[in-house]
Amino acid sequence: MQVISSIPDFRKARSDLRGTLGLVPTMGYLHEGHLALVRRARLENDAVAASIFVNPSQFGPNEDFTTYPRDMDRDLSLLRVEGVDLVFAPSPEDVYPPGFDTWIEAGSVSQRLEGEHRPGHFRGVATVVAKLFNVVQPDRAYFGQKDGQQVAVVKRMVTDLDMDVDVVVVSTLRDPDGLALSSRNVYLTPEQRRVAPIIYRALCQARKLWEDGERSGESLRSEIRRTLEQEPLIEKIDYVSVADASSLEEVDTIRQPAMVSVAARMGRTRLIDNVLLG
Ligand code: PAF
Repeated sequence: MQVISSIPDFRKARSDLRGTLGLVPTMGYLHEGHLALVRRARLENDAVAASIFVNPSQFGPNEDFTTYPRDMDRDLSLLRVEGVDLVFAPSPEDVYPPGFDTWIEAGSVSQRLEGEHRPGHFRGVATVVAKLFNVVQPDRAYFGQKDGQQVAVVKRMVTDLDMDVDVVVVSTLRDPDGLALSSRNVYLTPEQRRVAPIIYRALCQARKLWEDGERSGESLRSEIRRTLEQEPLIEKIDYVSVADASSLEEVDTIRQPAMVSVAARMGRTRLIDNVLLG
């Protein structure tokens, strides 16, 4: 496995590969969710690249960029075991050299939900993902459904900018009690960790209502809020959404595939999760 930080060196290594290449973009501090993406990429491609880059431009000024968990040695050992061929691990200066001044402004799909609570987040995500696609030149790129809005934004960008990359979405991996795997789960205190699966339980209750025939977006949203509001350790609910799965516009009546999503704060941790309907 080659670990490369400079863009010219990565391009050289990429040009030596033959056959299809799958890319798993990450911010490191890898967990089983990331490894599921790598395994899927391994199955579907001749070679696999992973990127490890904590992207400063997708963090707001009061967010956790400096404290975001990092463990490069452990990440590299995990990727080696999975048979990854190339790791792209640039520095912020490699990605954003002095004078850098071109950004991808994702459209309306990026303005709602996370976009409302994390202004500029998807501008940072779209820009870095476009840069990663340009450098790595993958045939397929693998993203987790856990970040459902990120998937919608990246798909929109790939379509709108005619990028020649297949976006492959892999189901969310969960702990046995239902909590979606996330690098940020390490921030949870034991008490918060114990109650955090309530988010997935609330989403599953909403899905059950839908399976039983409920089609009102508002009924599902209220039911989820009612469940979450019963838990005192949930300090703030940023949003509860039942939205069209591709545009992420809130729906009154669920007819098309929909994404039910939640963002809620417990102490310093912001948890997001979603389930798909239809
Ligand atoms: O999902 C992530 O880890 C990041 O948002 C990504 C896609 C690697 C871009 O920095």
